[in-house]
Amino acid sequence: MELPFAESWKIKMVEPIRKSTREEREKWLKEADYNVFMLKSDYVYIDCLTDSGTGAMSDRQWAAMMTGDESYAGARSFYELKDTIKRITGFDYVLPTHQGRAAENVLFSHLVKPGDRVPGNSHFDTTKGHIESRKAFAIDCTVDEAKNTQLEYPFKGNVDLKKLEAELKEHSDKIPFIIVTITNNTAGGQPVSMENLRGVRALADKYGKRVFFDSARFAENAYFIKKREPEFKDATIKEIAREMFALADGMTMSSKKDGLVNMGGFIATRWEDVYEGAKQYLIPFEGFLTYGGMNGRDMAALAVGLDENTEYDMLETRIHQVEYLAKKLDEYGIPYQRPVGGHALFIDADKVLDQVPKEEFPGERLSIELYLEAGVRGCEIGYMLADRDPVTRQNRFEGNDFLRLCICRRTYTDNHMDVIAAALKNVYDRRHEIKHGVKIKWEAELMRHFTVKMDLIED
Ligand code: F0G
Repeated sequence: MELPFAESWKIKMVEPIRKSTREEREKWLKEADYNVFMLKSDYVYIDCLTDSGTGAMSDRQWAAMMTGDESYAGARSFYELKDTIKRITGFDYVLPTHQGRAAENVLFSHLVKPGDRVPGNSHFDTTKGHIESRKAFAIDCTVDEAKNTQLEYPFKGNVDLKKLEAELKEHSDKIPFIIVTITNNTAGGQPVSMENLRGVRALADKYGKRVFFDSARFAENAYFIKKREPEFKDATIKEIAREMFALADGMTMSSKKDGLVNMGGFIATRWEDVYEGAKQYLIPFEGFLTYGGMNGRDMAALAVGLDENTEYDMLETRIHQVEYLAKKLDEYGIPYQRPVGGHALFIDADKVLDQVPKEEFPGERLSIELYLEAGVRGCEIGYMLADRDPVTRQNRFEGNDFLRLCICRRTYTDNHMDVIAAALKNVYDRRHEIKHGVKIKWEAELMRHFTVKMDLIED
């Protein structure tokens, strides 16, 4: 008999979680103005809100924390982290930050001016926020295949090179750089192929532009390249990562994802001028050059995490679990962004709740229903997250409307996946009774989905 698949680790420490009753959840959600971000985590049974900073560290990472050097200047932990980043990415210059959006803030303070245009593939909301708050524009050049959730296409994260070239041709003088997000979170944790990254590089060279990678999930991207691009089937994850980064001029990183730590980020680049420019903002915003918002112990844990997560077995275990949940949804016929991505399932809320008008945010309603059903917390990645158009102030309904269910790294077991799937099935089975969504009571101007206050519209 062939042996079944099993995790490439065993569990050394556990944290209790608690179920609640439906009555309790109704009360808590109302108090949270129907925004799951406003719920206390004690009120959540299985938390799929994000894979960001929510994973479990390994024994090697915890051990590394004890060796952290907390010196203000010149910390050994910084130099060890810098060496690891250089080995994995090839970049010489490293600026640590407290998380990914801080890296964006520092880098964009140096590079983005009012009126600029920054083309890329579905910029993440903080990336878009940091561009738009500087009165510049984030130009989405994602391939159209990403919009059709039922289409099986191996690299839905790709940049549409025709769209990118049109933008470069028309607005070259306004474009400070191109940003490619690997994997493409907003489109469903979807990978970008090496072929596509090469195409972006060629266009960037043709128009004399630099390319930065938003690298939050670069290791998962490398895993998909290995699995789906025949040229790389025998390459190691570290070899693929080096080859991807060879096509970029620099990166921003949220270490809370593929760095396997709970907090942290960095900027890395091959260019001294980028380093020199960004460095001036690092010191006032984040901290001195050799800690920039991170403890020495956290930099030590990150160096180990980056190494661990660029090993095949770790990524195979992780993505296998995401695929396991996806298979269950296939059994029940629940539509999600196909094929399943690296860090999450993106349920097609528009399709599931097809009676709920766009103006009533189906993705928000689906996240409410799933929480009420079983205490499982996902979050909307859709019309609410898309924010309003900065010029017209209209809601943006052009993209997809998803309920995202993130799978934390090394945190839950497949039994938890079974609970999530069953809860979703129960909601799905009564989808025809759900006719309305939510009404906004209060919203922030930017990144509104985190703090929006809503009312439930009764069916
Ligand atoms: N870029 C991508 C692709 C991201 O997914 C995130 C965060 C960031 C940048 C910002 O990094 O949180 O460390 O400041 N994504 C989280 C998520 C929040 O839930 O997808 P950060």
